[in-house]
Amino acid sequence: MRVLVVGGGGREHALAWRLVRDGAEVIVAPGSDGIATDAECVALDVRDHGAIVALARARRVDLVVVGPEQPLVDGLADACRRAGLPCFGPSAAAAALEGSKAVAKAFMQRHGIPTARSQVVTDLAALPAALAAFDSPPVVKADGLAAGKGVTVAEDWAEAEAAARACLEQRVFGDAGARVVLEQRLRGEEASLFVITDGTHGVWLAAAQDHKRIGDGDTGPNTGGMGAYAPAPIVDAAVRARVATTIVTPSIDGLRAEGTPFIGVLFVGLMIEPDGTPWVIEYNCRFGDPEVQALAFGAQAPLLPVLHDAATGQLRPGALACSPSATVVLAAAGYPGVPRAGDVITGLADADAHADVKVFHAGTRRRDDGAFVTHGGRVLGVCARGDDLRAAIARAYAAVECIGFDGMQHRRDVGARALR
Ligand code: AMP
Ligand code: GLY
Repeated sequence: MRVLVVGGGGREHALAWRLVRDGAEVIVAPGSDGIATDAECVALDVRDHGAIVALARARRVDLVVVGPEQPLVDGLADACRRAGLPCFGPSAAAAALEGSKAVAKAFMQRHGIPTARSQVVTDLAALPAALAAFDSPPVVKADGLAAGKGVTVAEDWAEAEAAARACLEQRVFGDAGARVVLEQRLRGEEASLFVITDGTHGVWLAAAQDHKRIGDGDTGPNTGGMGAYAPAPIVDAAVRARVATTIVTPSIDGLRAEGTPFIGVLFVGLMIEPDGTPWVIEYNCRFGDPEVQALAFGAQAPLLPVLHDAATGQLRPGALACSPSATVVLAAAGYPGVPRAGDVITGLADADAHADVKVFHAGTRRRDDGAFVTHGGRVLGVCARGDDLRAAIARAYAAVECIGFDGMQHRRDVGARALR
């Protein structure tokens, strides 16, 4: 089977690597210098849907897998399906669950899916009254896609107001912040849940946990994700059953009933209260990164047929088990602010030579002399699997020890919560 993977980050490297292992001939567009070590890459602009469809046709691919959210929200999956190409990824209408937090909130309200109470504000003049409707400072979210930076978990009222003003008044997120969602703060432990669906049936992946803050012990600013592990013990059989009944089934059925069936991976960001009650923090319409690095590396069965069956409407419900796996993100100097590019990375081959370890490239570039250098905020994902999570984590950190570049940042406590 020939597969075109769209995207060029750590997520797409992990997916491409997995699909090659599963026996596919994989083309990645645009890919990256790092991905090119595992699969053929074709340079093109992912905003050019016509070019992607043309490439898929010219190369007679059997499946298009769209990695990032922006092209999905922009309708790339619709363009593929219109051209008769099986596509793993939701339509623009279904991807709006990620593309607009207001749309997602309204959907959850219509279907009785548990989520924090919220209010949409579009007009600065309405902000004071909207804030006053909450008992404690609300979480402030830009409505649209903001590259993972649009959420402020405010500690006090002034911070909440400033965050809302930054969106509505200063327009720091452009049109994505023209609407703001204020949301009651939830308490508990977060988990990332991934269900692959053809619009009707679901194949559940292992739940994962991400590490959003830059610093150990969940300190410092939010990032795109500094590490992940799976399976996450917080999502035990009882929580899973509740999530299935109250969240996953009504989400998939609700989207189908509204005429916007979801084909792809529904990524539910969960908050799990101490008593096991699950709430939806957000929906995403694609695999999480770095979670998918651990899930793809640890998958105990091929992912390829599951993606293909979802894209072609023949998914059999089930689960895809994952060996204990962890990934440690190595980030560039300056991240999550402006990352420094061009720092030479050493030790990649040594790290990759470790058994049960794979280094995925998120933000690197290869110089003319062959050396990889930093080229993005999150630079590498060092992934390992083991008989248990402790072994997987130890293996990942042993491989991290091999790698170096100026200003390298990483967390030292990936997976620590699961080991306690
Ligand atoms: P998002 O960009 O929507 O994934 O949100 C980023 C992070 O903000 C989440 O991973 C949570 O840690 C936090 N967050 C978002 N909404 C809430 C909420 N209602 N209560 C508590 N934390 C939240
Ligand atoms: N790791 C979280 C995300 O991909 O949104």
